[in-house]
Amino acid sequence: MDGNGRWAERRQRPRTLGHRAGVKAVQVCIEYCLAQGIEALTLFAFSSENWNRPQEEVGALMKLFLRMLDSEVDELHRRGVRVAFIGDRPGFPEAIRARMAVAETLTRGNTRLVLTIAASYGGRWDIAQACRQLATEAAAGAIDPATIDEAMLHSRLGLADLPEPDLFIRTGGDLRISNFLLWQLAYTELWFTETLWPDLDASVLDAALAAFADRERRFGLTSAQVAGSTE
Ligand code: IPE
Ligand code: MG
Repeated sequence: MDGNGRWAERRQRPRTLGHRAGVKAVQVCIEYCLAQGIEALTLFAFSSENWNRPQEEVGALMKLFLRMLDSEVDELHRRGVRVAFIGDRPGFPEAIRARMAVAETLTRGNTRLVLTIAASYGGRWDIAQACRQLATEAAAGAIDPATIDEAMLHSRLGLADLPEPDLFIRTGGDLRISNFLLWQLAYTELWFTETLWPDLDASVLDAALAAFADRERRFGLTSAQVAGSTE
């Protein structure tokens, strides 16, 4: 979700206003997934590196985060959305951590859409924490280091219980991953748009899905192999 700051700066308004405007685009995105039957949506809300922004902006984002947790979770639960968080939770104030836990517990049985919020998240952080878990288990004798494979690492990462992401969408015009789901994006289709996050609407998401439908996903195979396997 990129472009909130620029959206506000273009209006000669403080960057924090852009973050507030971005809330509507989050709602649009969730509604879109529910309407289209998309079963998993992962939003990159706040990166490991975003903590280094000016204190005032970080503070405003925390306030907004807290406010959204208070105002949105009940409605998401009613709509059948399971809410989950990935990222370095001890970095957050206790008030936010407590609400994250409440949201996850309340919505845990929902199956219509899994909404994962990546907050204080970095792809490198995720891989490092999974390695730390494996090392701890190996040191305790629970696993044999020689047996560690991709599936074992994967199962200790943030999105372990979801299918691999099909489509990555970045708004705001920059053509990079910026430490999002580094492991999980190995074969994900990437799609970029100049649209700033607060301007995101269903027509932008339609364009992303149309582009996705045109891609040939080969997963390292040849075109002929892929064509053969679908017959
Ligand atoms: C993304 O918008 C939202 C967060 C990082 C929380 P930005 O704040 O990065 O917006 P730009 O890139 O400065 O326009
Ligand atoms: Mg940005």
